Amino acid sequence: MRPRYQSLIASLALLSSFTDIAFAFPPYQSLGGLSEHELRNAVRALDPTLPGIPPGPLKNNGTKLVYDWLHPFLPPGPLDIRGPCPGLNTLANHGHLPRNGIATPAQIINAVMEGFNMEVGTARFVTYAAFVVDGNPITDLLSIGRKSILTGVLPEPAIVGGLNTHGVFEGDASTTRLDAYFGDNFSLNDDLWNQYIEYSNRLGDGYYNLTVAQELRHRRNTQSIAENPEFDFTSPRYFTAFAESTFPYVFFIDGRVPIGPGGLGVGRGLHVSNATSFFKDNRFPKDFWRPPTPSVPTGIVQVFTAHPIPPGRNQGAVNTYTPDPTSGSFTNFCALYYNFLNITLNRLYPNPTGILRRNLAINLRYLYENLPSLPGQTDTCTELFPYGQPPV
Ligand code: HEM
Ligand SMILES: *[C@@H]1O[C@H](CO)[C@@H](O)[C@H](O)[C@H]1NC(C)=O
Ligand SMILES: *[C@@H]1O[C@H](CO)[C@@H](O)[C@H](O)[C@H]1NC(C)=O
Ligand SMILES: *[C@@H]1O[C@H](CO)[C@@H](O)[C@H](O)[C@H]1NC(C)=O
Ligand SMILES: *[C@@H]1O[C@H](CO)[C@@H](O)[C@H](O)[C@H]1NC(C)=O
Ligand SMILES: *[C@@H]1O[C@H](CO)[C@@H](O)[C@H](O)[C@H]1NC(C)=O
Repeated sequence: MRPRYQSLIASLALLSSFTDIAFAFPPYQSLGGLSEHELRNAVRALDPTLPGIPPGPLKNNGTKLVYDWLHPFLPPGPLDIRGPCPGLNTLANHGHLPRNGIATPAQIINAVMEGFNMEVGTARFVTYAAFVVDGNPITDLLSIGRKSILTGVLPEPAIVGGLNTHGVFEGDASTTRLDAYFGDNFSLNDDLWNQYIEYSNRLGDGYYNLTVAQELRHRRNTQSIAENPEFDFTSPRYFTAFAESTFPYVFFIDGRVPIGPGGLGVGRGLHVSNATSFFKDNRFPKDFWRPPTPSVPTGIVQVFTAHPIPPGRNQGAVNTYTPDPTSGSFTNFCALYYNFLNITLNRLYPNPTGILRRNLAINLRYLYENLPSLPGQTDTCTELFPYGQPPV
């Protein structure tokens, strides 16, 4: 064996002996789904912290250059984590988020406001929803992708965590990512990317706008019904899918471009060249200025009403899509919140105790405080306390 390989193997062996100790419970790994025994050991190995306070709105909330000299583009190194979200990947590649892809909720909220001018309530809602299911409530850290820096490098304990985790936040019928049923559920898929470009060219004249969002969302829904026997399109994924369809024309268009009619998309939309920069390279276009005002995902309901589909799932075979009336939907918004706590979170944390229980309760309060209200819907959701009242 050549010496180069010998030394590689020697260092891997050394790394793996450290791994058992140092990486057995990476501090950013989710604790969801662990047995009581595993949970006890994990919590003992971690440095507990209080959840950070949710950041307030931006003080200076206008457009500005965010691809500046303080935030150069650097591709991720081999141990830096990237995941299914082109927005967060881009922020990490520019150092608006920690470049290793591991961040606190407060860092994520600050970064999406600073880099993309996401409105503070939206930023908090999305972040806490993702954090309680995919993050580590003891250490207040979340991986924006895989569960461990060593996934695919060395064996690791079978623990969930990170935004790649399927079925709790990440889900099916993504615009540019494959359904988990087909394998890699978080990388940009070339066929789906070509489909995005084809739709932008054919229906948007080279730009992604509301019309393209409506048709491409419909296309992805019907594709998954026809191809994925395990297609699941219930809440929370049901909502995030429609929301994500609006993100490109809301957040990826330069803030100096005049707002289009009705505020639905800016100018003509997101040009394919600039979309390529975000989706393919996870990089701001050269000289990118963030949106001109704090922005919410405008047009979600319009994307839905163009081709309405009830929440539901395939029944183990393709083309067996069956509505699920218990899922959150556009006419029963609070069920999104109730089921998220009662079903999704309960499965991950059936019986948390101590600091874990306290920190979950605190994060759930932050989530509840930032529940959005859908246009035309006046329901006020009742706050649930599966882990008791948070301390005041
Ligand atoms: C606020 C915190 C955020 C979190 C926790 C988050 C998380 C995620 C996750 C988990 C997905 C994958 C969903 C799936 O495909 O199953 C996703 C998709 C996406 N995110 Fe984010 N995101 C955040 C903010 C943003 C922002 C600010 C932008 C835009 C600037 C953005 C743009 C997108 C887009 C366009 C997709 C769809 C990708 C596709 O389906 O091809 N996200 N995000
Ligand atoms: C943006 O900042 C201005 C000036 O401080 C403030 O009046 C306005 O309410 C802010 N807009 C939003 C949407 O927060
Ligand atoms: C999603 O992708 C990640 C990374 O490849 C993988 O570990 C995980 O098992 C996938 N989820 C499912 C349900 O296939
Ligand atoms: C999107 O762009 C196409 C092509 O320019 C145009 O026909 C369509 O009206 C646009 N949609 C919206 C909502 O502006
Ligand atoms: C692409 O992005 C740059 C930087 O944000 C912007 O100046 C330019 O107008 C965009 N190009 C198109 C065709 O929208
Ligand atoms: C959630 O679960 C609790 C406990 O099982 C139950 O009492 C409550 O009715 C459920 N709430 C909703 C809104 O589903």
